[in-house]
Amino acid sequence: MNSPVFSRRSWLQTLAAAPAAASALSAAPLPGDADRERRMKWWHEARFGMFIHWGLYSLLGRHEWVMENEAIPVEEYEQLAKRFNPRPNAAREWAKLARRAGQRYMVMTTKHHEGFCLFNSKLTSYCAPKQAAGRDLVAEYVEAARAEGLRVGFYYSLMDWHHPDGARCATDEAARKRFVEYIHGQIRELMTNYGKIDILWYDVAWPLNAEGWESERMNQMVFQLQPDIIVNNRNLLPGDFSTPEQRIQADASGRAWEACMTMNDSWGYHASDDNWKRPRTCILNLVTCARDGGNYLLNIGPRGDGSVPEESVRILEAVGHWLERNGQAIYGADRCRVNRSNYANFSRKGNTLYMHVSYWPGETVVLAGLQAKVKSARLLASGRPVRFEQDEFRVRFLGLPPKPPDDPVTVIAAECDSEPVQNMDRVRRERPRRGV
Ligand code: GLC
Repeated sequence: MNSPVFSRRSWLQTLAAAPAAASALSAAPLPGDADRERRMKWWHEARFGMFIHWGLYSLLGRHEWVMENEAIPVEEYEQLAKRFNPRPNAAREWAKLARRAGQRYMVMTTKHHEGFCLFNSKLTSYCAPKQAAGRDLVAEYVEAARAEGLRVGFYYSLMDWHHPDGARCATDEAARKRFVEYIHGQIRELMTNYGKIDILWYDVAWPLNAEGWESERMNQMVFQLQPDIIVNNRNLLPGDFSTPEQRIQADASGRAWEACMTMNDSWGYHASDDNWKRPRTCILNLVTCARDGGNYLLNIGPRGDGSVPEESVRILEAVGHWLERNGQAIYGADRCRVNRSNYANFSRKGNTLYMHVSYWPGETVVLAGLQAKVKSARLLASGRPVRFEQDEFRVRFLGLPPKPPDDPVTVIAAECDSEPVQNMDRVRRERPRRGV
């Protein structure tokens, strides 16, 4: 047996180093580089999207890595394609849910690592229209998203556990050429057959590097076919945005970023994974993303029939309900340089500071170290004015109800005379000390 160039583990280890290697590779500007700001504008304003992991693994309900992590033989796993026949237009339900949740775009797995395509591909028969489903599930998804006014994203896994060349491409040049043509060909199909697509979300580049994938040529084709699209960085080029996974971390270089996260511990449907986040956690994650200038892509893993686990529906509806009242603190938010509190998180638009109080302290809510002067304050949900007193070191919002007026997070909007910035060093150094 040939051993691949990278083991999966060493490949994961190289991921951290990938951005540097990738930027060296992409010294020549791609067609998309020139007008990145224009293409990304809607996405920055949107802040919040729905990720959807759906495939044959959804029938088994043991996580989307089940094929690999249980070492299921290809022939055995393939049988699932004969059973995967979701109810018609399941995606409509997701798109409606995304709308209710306040999400502005969707990104669905058109092909995950298992290799099964939800779209119609001339390049394989291992795709939904040619198996039990008998229909193009990507077409249904695109239509559903558009019907709800949501932007449309395609997730596409480069790594492929089903294709005969998917592993040996690392050591066999003829296999690499065939496999790269297959992958580029499928991306071409996705970029050609569904009208305007807003996001292309590559995933897992094992076992090749950017050169092996011919990622430059890949992106060139994508931008030729979809001049307005944005692409992520997981074909090992920088792309338009980076993709911290299961963590919220602004890109150090100041590039655009999107944190993708699950609501439990699995992306694909996992029947017994009950480690659900609370709606409050999801709301605070969304606030943190908005605060640090990023986006939040929150995942659902529908069952094989397309139905969405009830817990996910409950969480998303709670988030959406909160956004109905407090959305102006999130959509179109600017990066915010206030972050220290024991009971609140922050976001900002222009000179307005939004204080998101998650552990309600009672009648008085305090913010330390604010450099700007507060001109007025109100509860965002009700518009009720909030009284305040401000000195050099703190602002105290006064006369508030003993119980939190909004649930699960109460937002105080404070209009300031300049950009609200917090300086805690100053508090520590200069706050008057007794007898000095
Ligand atoms: C990882 C996983 C995959 C998931 C993705 C989402 O790369 O392999 O299962 O789709 O992250 O970001």
